[in-house]
Amino acid sequence: EKQGYDWFMRKEIYEQPQAVADTLLGRYNEDGSLKLDELHIPEAELRTIDKIIIVACGTAYYAGMVAKYAIEHWTRIACEVEIASEFRYRDPIITPRTLVVTLSQSGETADTLMAIRHAREQGAKVIAICNTNGATIPRESDAVIYTHAGPEIGVASTKGFLTQVAACYLLGLYLAQVRGTKFGDEIAAIMGELAATPPLIQRVLDEIEPIKQLAAKYAEQKSVLFLGRHVGYPVALEGALKLKEIAYLHAEGFPAGELKHGPIALVENQIPIFVVVPPQGRDQLHDKVTSNIQEVRARGAFTIVLAEDDDEEVIPYADFLFRLPKVSTLMQPLVATVPLQMFACELASLKGYDVDQPRNLAKSVTVE
Ligand code: F6R
Repeated sequence: EKQGYDWFMRKEIYEQPQAVADTLLGRYNEDGSLKLDELHIPEAELRTIDKIIIVACGTAYYAGMVAKYAIEHWTRIACEVEIASEFRYRDPIITPRTLVVTLSQSGETADTLMAIRHAREQGAKVIAICNTNGATIPRESDAVIYTHAGPEIGVASTKGFLTQVAACYLLGLYLAQVRGTKFGDEIAAIMGELAATPPLIQRVLDEIEPIKQLAAKYAEQKSVLFLGRHVGYPVALEGALKLKEIAYLHAEGFPAGELKHGPIALVENQIPIFVVVPPQGRDQLHDKVTSNIQEVRARGAFTIVLAEDDDEEVIPYADFLFRLPKVSTLMQPLVATVPLQMFACELASLKGYDVDQPRNLAKSVTVE
């Protein structure tokens, strides 16, 4: 049931505050400590883990890229992220101390399934983060954390992505708690930030109208670029994937720092470039990205800037400015991805495409 929405995808974009809240529900205590009862892997075993490998495909892979930053930062365990279809063909180094985390909305993606089978044959423990109860991937894993997003029907994943990020963050905080790499009060503070995101995602949705109007300008556009750094980089990749999938236009995401190493040659007059600006803060990322915006604008780009409230520095370089709620860097993907999803949905809809069933794609890819 589309409940009055034109597309399931649009409905699912609007369901994200609830989907994230439902994913967090019951998984932390009042004191901010984590409670992941469903992880039937003994704590002693989790303490011996010396490497994490996240394997997934498509949007789930980008969620894994976001998660890597958080997991390494909180747990100090080395974390790799790999496209599932590439994983077992490179003879990856897996031991019984390797934890493989797999992300799959459907739980039926063949490439991902083959990757975890391979990992388990080598003795690794596998934790699945999945949205579909009893699907093959969770059945073949040692433990599962379900994302309680509710059924996702639009082929382009939206609430799947946000809830995968949220579930990975729960897992990361839990590992930090078990291994003592963060103090209890630090964990409680981060958990508090995570638990505070649903109303902030709602705010982004309440203010989304200008993004829809922006999309109307680009019905004839051939190419769109996305830039980000740190967790903003996978957000850029995800924004580009959504446009390719449903609006059938060429779109690419780049780490903003890579621009000068090649992609800046693509910048031509009036090309729209989305830029995800990190929160203003101690590190230099914010200022670096701000200069990247200037660089592409000086070469004629139309800059579409996503920056937090009170960020005054970007104003002179933004041809279009969308305000994000103030959150920490690691929480930003949960709010910054939403306008990119809506831009793609709106553009595809305006072009008259079937947003929920894009050409050549299936909701779950059950062949390798
Ligand atoms: C993109 C999309 C795909 C899936 C990928 C993995 O919008 O839907 O890229 O993310 O096929 O699917 P799951 O998560 O079901 O394993």
